[in-house]
Amino acid sequence: MTATADALETYLDANHDRRLASYEEFLRIPSVSALPEHADDCRRAAEFLAGELRTIGVEHVDVAETRGHPLVYGDWLKAEGAPTVLVYGHYDVQPPDPIDEWVKAPFEPLIRDGRMLARGAADDKAQVHMHVRATEAILATRGRLPVNLKFLFEGDEEMSSAHLDQWLEENRARLGADLAVISDTGFFEGNLPAVTIGLRGISYFQVDVLGTAVDLHSGVFGGAVQNPANALAHIIAALKGTNGRILVPGFYDDVVPLSDRDREAFAALPFEDEAYRAEHGLSAPVGEPGYTTLERRGARPTLDVNGIWGGFQGEGSKTIIPASAHAKISCRLVVNQRPERIYELVREHILRVAPEGCRVEITNLGGGLPSLTPMDHPATQAAVRAIEATFGRQPLFIREGGSIPVCASFESILGLPVVLLGFANPDCNAHAPNESMILANYETGIRTIARYWDELATLPR
Ligand code: BES
Ligand code: MN
Ligand code: MN
Repeated sequence: MTATADALETYLDANHDRRLASYEEFLRIPSVSALPEHADDCRRAAEFLAGELRTIGVEHVDVAETRGHPLVYGDWLKAEGAPTVLVYGHYDVQPPDPIDEWVKAPFEPLIRDGRMLARGAADDKAQVHMHVRATEAILATRGRLPVNLKFLFEGDEEMSSAHLDQWLEENRARLGADLAVISDTGFFEGNLPAVTIGLRGISYFQVDVLGTAVDLHSGVFGGAVQNPANALAHIIAALKGTNGRILVPGFYDDVVPLSDRDREAFAALPFEDEAYRAEHGLSAPVGEPGYTTLERRGARPTLDVNGIWGGFQGEGSKTIIPASAHAKISCRLVVNQRPERIYELVREHILRVAPEGCRVEITNLGGGLPSLTPMDHPATQAAVRAIEATFGRQPLFIREGGSIPVCASFESILGLPVVLLGFANPDCNAHAPNESMILANYETGIRTIARYWDELATLPR
């Protein structure tokens, strides 16, 4: 180990307990972006990060207002002649329900079996915190960073980053960089180190089927009026076949087919359908015919109901025709599908298949473009070296099914290549009860980030 790497390790060792306490403090802030009652908590999370950045010596720290939750910006730009990296993560988290299924309350962090459990423990507070702590350690031990860093921490990612593009346009001048690093992805099955090189896009919408002003007695009216819940079921059934093919005309028109090379790359990953099924308690593999599980989830579009409600939900039976029924639905998209276009196609299809006798309202709740990042870019290869040097294993290149809308925006608005440098364990339960981060990933990942900046600083310019 070199002297500087040694000093970094000594510093990180010495600060282990303080670091975990700070990570927990961050996790205790219930910064749920989707729920209006948590708006103040989102602001508190932003202020927490701004405070941390100032304390460790990052400059020009700013909590910027948007039409959504605040953005945190800060930079350290004294590495003259070295590359500049825009570092992105998000402090907002998904709603924690169903609360009863958590072993401890979602915003009361718990360390168990080498994992940190809490909402946001992995997605994405861990990774934001890792960047802060890596920067702290480098500045504390060396007094300077090997590269210039611009931090951008967002509070609307779980809401499709609806206000970020505008802010990026308006602040293009101060966001100039050589590269963007997004730390909001994870490792491969078996917790194998990985660099994500593909993300799906998304189109998210709500369908409200409205019947009468109030519920009706189903004996008195049944058979003579449209039932909004039945109508919604009919609509949903018309969106996707049981074989996984989307039935919306035109849905696949812009999809770029998988190349032989793409398919070989998927096939080469160490993945067992049987183990996947067993781990998640799946009774059978399902999905679009002609594609493998990894292709289905990483490189093919799909459509899923995220939530559905209406009518009587209590115990026992109640005989009504519900006044209304509702569903939240999202499509995952691949290159070259565009969320606005898909929304329009799905909307037209829903209105076409909607049964008579009810009113159907469709609301666009946001979207994001898919993205592919370059595998052979020197900055990606530097990330590979940093991961190998710290995790002791060459990372796999993977294409993930999740979405990070800002990835495409960094490319299109700021013209930056993106490296997805993420550390979440694949069994982190993101968006689900008992979300957890393996602390070894968190700790080693901090070393990876520090190492990555050194790797980037030595690239020929
Ligand atoms: N960190 C995830 C994206 C992700 C998930 C990347 C899995 C790689 C693997 C991100 O926070 C997320 O959940 N995004 C949302 C986007 C949406 C709300 C616009 C998603 O994918 O559902
Ligand atoms: Mn995330
Ligand atoms: Mn998420």
